[in-house]
Amino acid sequence: MAPMECREESISYRPIGVIRSPHVDPRRTPIQPRYAAGIAGSIEIFPEFSAGLDDLEGFSHIVLLYHFHRSHGSRLRVVPYLDDEERGVFATRAPHRPNAIRMSVVRLVRREGNILHIEDIDALDGTPVLDIKPHVPRFGVEGAVRSGWLESVDEATATRRGRRDP
Ligand SMILES: C[S@@+](CC[C@H](N)C(=O)[O-])C[C@H]1O[C@@H](n2cnc3c(N)ncnc32)[C@H](O)[C@@H]1O
Repeated sequence: MAPMECREESISYRPIGVIRSPHVDPRRTPIQPRYAAGIAGSIEIFPEFSAGLDDLEGFSHIVLLYHFHRSHGSRLRVVPYLDDEERGVFATRAPHRPNAIRMSVVRLVRREGNILHIEDIDALDGTPVLDIKPHVPRFGVEGAVRSGWLESVDEATATRRGRRDP
C-alpha cells in the first residue's frame, strides 16, 4: 500500500471474545488497572480461538486490547480524568479517541478452557476483546522514562480520582 492510500482506508476487526467484569457504570469504573487492583473479572474467548490460549498460563500478566463499545465520538482536546486542564488526546488515555481501541495490562489468575480469570480490570462488562498478548517486561523500555503532564499529579490525587472515590 502506498503511504497516502491508507488515509481513506477503514479497517474492521472481529472480536475474539468478551470481557466479563463487575463494572456497569462508566462513571464508577476505575480508570486504569492500577486503580482496580484485585477487582476480579474474566475473559470469555470464543471457542474457535481457544487453542490460541495455550501456554499463556505461564505469564502473570496479559495485555488486553479491546474495543470501547460504549464510547461515542472523538475529540482531539480533552480534560483527562487525573487533571483539570485540557490536553491533546494522544497525550492521555481518555476514552473519546479517533479509534476506540483500548489497552489494559491485567493480572492472569488462571485459565479454564476458553475462560481466562483475571484481576485488576478497568473495562465495562460486555467489552469486546480484539487481542491478547503476554506482558513481557524484557521487551519494555530501558533507561529514564518521562511521564509528561502526569508528573505534576501527586499520588494521592491520582489514586482518589483513579478509583473514582468522592
Ligand atoms: C480511562 S479508560 C482506560 C482504559 C485503558 N486502560 C486504556 O488506557 O486504554 C477507563 C475508563 O473507560 C470507561 N470504559 C471502560 N470500558 C468501556 C467501554 N467498553 N466502552 C466505553 N467506555 C468504557 C470507564 O469509564 C473507565 O473508567
